[in-house]
Amino acid sequence: MVNRIFEKDKYFIPCLRRLFPKEPILAVKGRGAVLTDSKGKDYIDLFASHGVNFVGFNRPEVVSAIKEQAEKLVNYAYDIHTTPAVELAEKLVQIAPEPLKKCYFLNSGAEAVECALYLARKYKGKYEIIGLYGGFHGRTYGARSALGWSAYKRGMGPFLPGFIHMPSYYCYRCTLNLEYPDCNLQCAKMLEDVLQYQCSGEVAAFIAEPVQGTAGNIPAPNRYFKEVKRILDSYDILYIDDEVYTGLGRTGKLWGVEHYGVKPDIMTLAKTLGGGVPISAVMASKETASAFAVKDMLYFTTYGGNPLCCAAALASVNIVTGEKLHERAARLGEYFMKGLNDLADKYELIGDVRGKGLMIGVELVKNRRTKEPAHEESLKLRNEAKKRGVILPSAMGWLGNTIRMTPPAVITEQQIDHVIEVLDASLKTLK
Ligand SMILES: Cc1ncc(COP(=O)(O)O)c(C=O)c1O
Repeated sequence: MVNRIFEKDKYFIPCLRRLFPKEPILAVKGRGAVLTDSKGKDYIDLFASHGVNFVGFNRPEVVSAIKEQAEKLVNYAYDIHTTPAVELAEKLVQIAPEPLKKCYFLNSGAEAVECALYLARKYKGKYEIIGLYGGFHGRTYGARSALGWSAYKRGMGPFLPGFIHMPSYYCYRCTLNLEYPDCNLQCAKMLEDVLQYQCSGEVAAFIAEPVQGTAGNIPAPNRYFKEVKRILDSYDILYIDDEVYTGLGRTGKLWGVEHYGVKPDIMTLAKTLGGGVPISAVMASKETASAFAVKDMLYFTTYGGNPLCCAAALASVNIVTGEKLHERAARLGEYFMKGLNDLADKYELIGDVRGKGLMIGVELVKNRRTKEPAHEESLKLRNEAKKRGVILPSAMGWLGNTIRMTPPAVITEQQIDHVIEVLDASLKTLK
């Protein structure tokens, strides 16, 4: 039966790499930080489906909210009010960073970014957008144009005109060959050069993640966004804060941007928002949001604000704020990183341990001096960890050598201890 399911894989358009192509897992249920397969084997999941399951798999509150709403009304579009959509909007506005006072719901992270780009261009009446090397914003054409990563673009161009990219804050492999903090944040200061030399005075917005997720869970250094925002303000350019991954607690604060003490003009969120269902949001200041007037119907999607998804999302957001899961993520993130740093003392293969909250990147290198990426080892490690009951999102990131850990925030210290033991045993096999 199970094998018959795997055989049916052939009906998919093959555009994604399965985590375990040779010995696949058939996921049948999840609880807390644990995913269970069809053979009844439990895995502590450090991937949590691209970080989505921050509040834990199948939280009873989310499941009940879905069931209750499904009994009443599964779908209606924005044209008519529904209670979950309105209540979710109110809740998000209450907890969003200043000055974000308006929100709009969509279906995926990429679509939220897409909408944010439209809003920025419409508000400014300008078209240029500056993004970062390694920035990831999704796979629709606008979002993909904004991402600074050629591997995601090859063979599919041309992309939208007006997108410009500059080196990011990847301190472990600084493009400018400098070292933090002596670099004096040259990568942020370069924004001024980019505006002077690459742009045509038509810049609407700068877009960035507070912690680059897909690139390998790379946090920006402390003063990075202060420096960027200073320049943006002096040129009157909008700041789009892409919190699709980081938003709602993942980094140890409710919003990733809170680590940096700056105010976004537009913010995107998804993943944690839905507690597992597909929903995303764009938030904007009143001023910026005013660019989309009702009469123009400039952005609309049939499923945006779907009451079933909004009910689930409201439950998810209430769990985060009610249980202060961001604070838990901060505490457990530190605990996890301590264990990982102890492993780094033991294994040369570990080149870098970094992160914020429960968004942790561990980079594997063949040689600590040359930093040659250890991709094969990273793949092997994934399979070794799987044998021992841990889903390890390794062989990822910019160079395919990073473990991108984004476990549910309900993971326990005992589970983290177990993960460290599994990693220790798995790393031993690679020696
Ligand atoms: C920062 C960021 N923005 C946007 C996206 C796109 O989200 P989605 O895959 O839901 O379209 C992602 C996906 O990982 C992301 O990490």
